[in-house]
Amino acid sequence: MKGSLISMLPLLASWRVEASMSSAAPAMSETAAEGFLSQGKTCCAALKLALPEKVSYAGSSSYNDSLASYWSLQEEDLRPTCVVSPTESHDVALAMALLNIGGRFLPGKCDFAVRSGGHTPFAGAANIQQGITIDLSGLKRVSPSEDLSTVTVGVGNRWAQVYSQLDALGIAIGGGRVASVGVGGLTLGGGVSFFSPRYGFVCDEVVRFEIVLASGVLTNVTQASHPDLFKALKGGSNNFGIVTEFESMAFKQGKFWGGSIVNDISAKDAQFAAFEALAGSSNYDPYAALINSYAFSAAEKTWIIANNIQYTKAEENPPFFQNFTSLPQIYSTMRISNLTDFALEIAESSPSGRRQLMVTATFANSAELMSKIFDATNATAQTLSHVPNLAFSLTFQPMPTAITSKAAARGGNSLGLGAADGNLFNALLNVSWDTEADDEIIEQEAKALFAKNRASASELGLFNEYEYLNYAADWQDPIRGYGPESVAHLRAVSRKYDPRGVFQKQLPGGFKLFD
Ligand SMILES: Cc1cc2nc3c(=O)[nH]c(=O)nc-3n(C[C@H](O)[C@H](O)[C@H](O)COP(=O)(O)OP(=O)(O)OC[C@H]3O[C@@H](n4cnc5c(N)ncnc54)[C@H](O)[C@@H]3O)c2cc1C
Ligand SMILES: *[C@@H]1O[C@H](CO)[C@@H](O)[C@H](O)[C@H]1NC(C)=O
Ligand SMILES: *[C@@H]1O[C@H](CO)[C@@H](O)[C@H](O)[C@H]1NC(C)=O
Ligand SMILES: *[C@@H]1O[C@H](CO)[C@@H](O)[C@H](O)[C@H]1NC(C)=O
Ligand SMILES: *[C@@H]1O[C@H](CO)[C@@H](O)[C@H](O)[C@H]1NC(C)=O
Ligand SMILES: *[C@@H]1O[C@H](CO)[C@@H](O)[C@H](O)[C@H]1NC(C)=O
Ligand SMILES: *[C@@H]1O[C@H](CO)[C@@H](O)[C@H](O)[C@H]1NC(C)=O
Repeated sequence: MKGSLISMLPLLASWRVEASMSSAAPAMSETAAEGFLSQGKTCCAALKLALPEKVSYAGSSSYNDSLASYWSLQEEDLRPTCVVSPTESHDVALAMALLNIGGRFLPGKCDFAVRSGGHTPFAGAANIQQGITIDLSGLKRVSPSEDLSTVTVGVGNRWAQVYSQLDALGIAIGGGRVASVGVGGLTLGGGVSFFSPRYGFVCDEVVRFEIVLASGVLTNVTQASHPDLFKALKGGSNNFGIVTEFESMAFKQGKFWGGSIVNDISAKDAQFAAFEALAGSSNYDPYAALINSYAFSAAEKTWIIANNIQYTKAEENPPFFQNFTSLPQIYSTMRISNLTDFALEIAESSPSGRRQLMVTATFANSAELMSKIFDATNATAQTLSHVPNLAFSLTFQPMPTAITSKAAARGGNSLGLGAADGNLFNALLNVSWDTEADDEIIEQEAKALFAKNRASASELGLFNEYEYLNYAADWQDPIRGYGPESVAHLRAVSRKYDPRGVFQKQLPGGFKLFD
């Protein structure tokens, strides 16, 4: 640790003076006061003193690099007062301790954001306009245990950096299917991997989180040490602390069969039927992972079907996927290869630097409903087809009980899903465009579309309250969708470990626990 809290005391004392001045100095002109206490500046100065090499301001290359590495333009466009770039867990602890004290003496002046891979689309989820952004991308540890039964992963990794090291050892852990996506946010929001039908959500495979609590205390959280917090972190996103690394159970994994198959849109009804049969199978093949996407071409106003199919063992053309693989194909990249290679393939279709929207909902498995959702989505796409450079896609993913039932044996998670929910599917709308002027119409249309989808599902008795947090738009409320029991647990854990509500108020971004 570079600086200690003791060495910060003179500075903290000066804050006290500032804080009292700000409330008891009516003579000071408002602009002067504002300049003096301008949002974030004082906190940044303290952080700079404590971590001189790791705090950067506008104009510097590390500040620029941090902004440039967000996925969406909405996040990249925000301008924090400073960026803190820790390279070890203790840096995070020191920064958090200072932010805690700063937030106490200067309420509203030390607001902060926490980011790992920065792949959340909406503004403010993992960045902040005036304030402090803690950019965890320097926490890059990837260390398998000696017997290869677990892997410890720093939250600053992207999944490709993890997989390329594990592929070489013949092991894997559950993680994102897209190489460029971040480790921290994905894991804390749930996480769907190619291996989910074998092992559950990505968070279900975690056996230890290392976390900095609101107080600045750095601690390890396991099922044995803090069962309440351990469970809360699995789906609790940024509400409990700053996670620095986690340790996940690993498994032997060699090459496997996977890739993409593109079909003509005329096959859509056959796809919905094949999807329903697969996702509803009473004997779900745990090696089978599917991303069933419908992509709109705004230029031609037509659609194309793209399936991402993975079978996580080295077996070509398994019978479980036959209903998909037997349909006429436009092209196919199906092959036997390694996890890194498949994750890189999917990343090619997700460039950064554009405006982005994701919206999600969960429904009981049904081809009839998929067809209704597709038709409604098509109508929306036609309405928006004038938007310059529009990329617009609808994705269905199976969420069978094979995935949702795995948590129970591992300390549980916060998602509120289980075998009782039956076989579900996730619907994801995914829109990319270039100009801010189009934000409003896109948001309006997407909201209307999801209201319509919800109504269609309710009519058929197929609606489920769960909304996958990692795909949710900022107007959605995924934590409420976890259900009242989970929400009550999350709130109780927050009161216990963060009694002042630092992660509720001082960290405004993302999805919060209290209304
Ligand atoms: C192209 C693309 C592909 C995707 N593929 C998948 C996929 O295969 N499977 C899947 O499940 N999801 C997928 N997602 C969704 C993905 O899980 C979310 O975007 C997730 O937020 C990404 O994590 P991140 O670390 O990059 O996010 P960030 O934007 O950095 O963080 C997300 C949220 O988590 C909080 N957070 C991040 N790190 C920490 C931390 N260490 N401690 C406390 N809070 C933290 C942030 O404050 C923020 O609110 C994909 C998204 C995109 C854009
Ligand atoms: C950082 O970006 C700003 C604004 O785009 C630019 O003026 C500045 O030169 C950049 N700094 C570095 C070191 O590249
Ligand atoms: C994974 O596959 C790619 C593509 O075939 C190859 O270049 C790479 O070396 C492989 N990695 C490992 C660790 O086997
Ligand atoms: C958490 O546990 C890991 C592995 O045992 C250890 O390396 C790390 O130092 C621990 N962290 C804390 C804060 O105790
Ligand atoms: C394939 O489709 C047939 C006919 O609908 C169905 O009976 C079968 O269960 C499906 N197979 C799988 C693995 O989904
Ligand atoms: C969103 O759609 C793009 C194509 O428009 C695709 O590349 C990307 O993988 C999709 N994102 C997710 C999270 O599925
Ligand atoms: C989408 O909607 C348009 C306009 O109503 C229609 O012409 C087209 O056939 C629809 N596409 C599909 C694949 O259903």
